[in-house]
Amino acid sequence: MHNAFTNEEYLALVNEALDGFVPLCGDERDLVAKAMRYSLKNGGKRVRPVLLLEFTRVCGGDVNVALPLACALEMIHTYSLIHDDLPCMDDDDFRRGQPSCHKQFGEATALLAGDGLLTLAFSVASKAPLAPERLLPCLTTLADAAGYLGMIGGQTMDLQHEEQTISADLLRATDRLKTGQLICAACRIGCLAAGAGQEKIDAAQCYAENIGLAFQIVDDLLDITGSAEELGKPIGSDEEKNKSTYPALLGLDESRRLVGELTEQALNALRCFDDAAFLASFAEKLAKRTN
Ligand code: IPE
Ligand code: IPE
Ligand code: MG
Ligand code: MG
Ligand code: MG
Repeated sequence: MHNAFTNEEYLALVNEALDGFVPLCGDERDLVAKAMRYSLKNGGKRVRPVLLLEFTRVCGGDVNVALPLACALEMIHTYSLIHDDLPCMDDDDFRRGQPSCHKQFGEATALLAGDGLLTLAFSVASKAPLAPERLLPCLTTLADAAGYLGMIGGQTMDLQHEEQTISADLLRATDRLKTGQLICAACRIGCLAAGAGQEKIDAAQCYAENIGLAFQIVDDLLDITGSAEELGKPIGSDEEKNKSTYPALLGLDESRRLVGELTEQALNALRCFDDAAFLASFAEKLAKRTN
């Protein structure tokens, strides 16, 4: 097994690799390349790539081999944020501490930057130096998680719930898709890239489902109680659109309690891993995050 990495070491790996995956080309296409680079650059927490790399490590795989997959997932996540901020979706003007992509580059370029990142992700992922029989399930997992039955499906449901009060079950189903799917993909792909067996894949899935839901509940809580400066994105965005969120439906205290419960369940799922200290403290840190 690789020696343990710190979060900072993972961030450095991911940020450097991401930078190299989107070179400028010196002609008119650089408009979209610059928009892609602008949205990808530092400021994101890189939660998904870090999870992917750490699951690869704890399953005995090579973190450097999995790095293109981790970057591909971050590209897909970044594309989802660019589109999420567009006026036709959440209409938010700030992201990762700077004007949203469409505020900086205009809507058409932001749309194309999202498309560019989504397609580049699959090019990058397909070049990860893994045996084809190991790589293929990683690519399928990535595509399914991002697709219309996954994250895009969740975003579609989310938009339909504006100006509505929905049941807690429907909200959970929405969040499992819009946020949960990419987080599950991170943990699963990390295991798959290392050739892990079913027991570990199932445990990773259970951990991911719990931290994934907790992650969105914390996101919703921070939209009410957080600081825009620290978050790097506006607060009050959900209330403005009367979004159905956990705090709106269940209140702040019950939402916080749920985050604690989900985090406990995530920690329980880690029992089958020999060296799960990073993953345990990562889940706890995400539950207490302020950005
Ligand atoms: C924000 O994701 C959108 C959600 C899925 C809740 P992150 O909180 O991971 O955003 P970045 O990547 O750190 O900017
Ligand atoms: C976004 O949820 C989820 C995805 C982008 C898939 P939110 O709309 O709550 O995310 P933020 O708060 O804008 O980051
Ligand atoms: Mg949204
Ligand atoms: Mg949003
Ligand atoms: Mg939000």
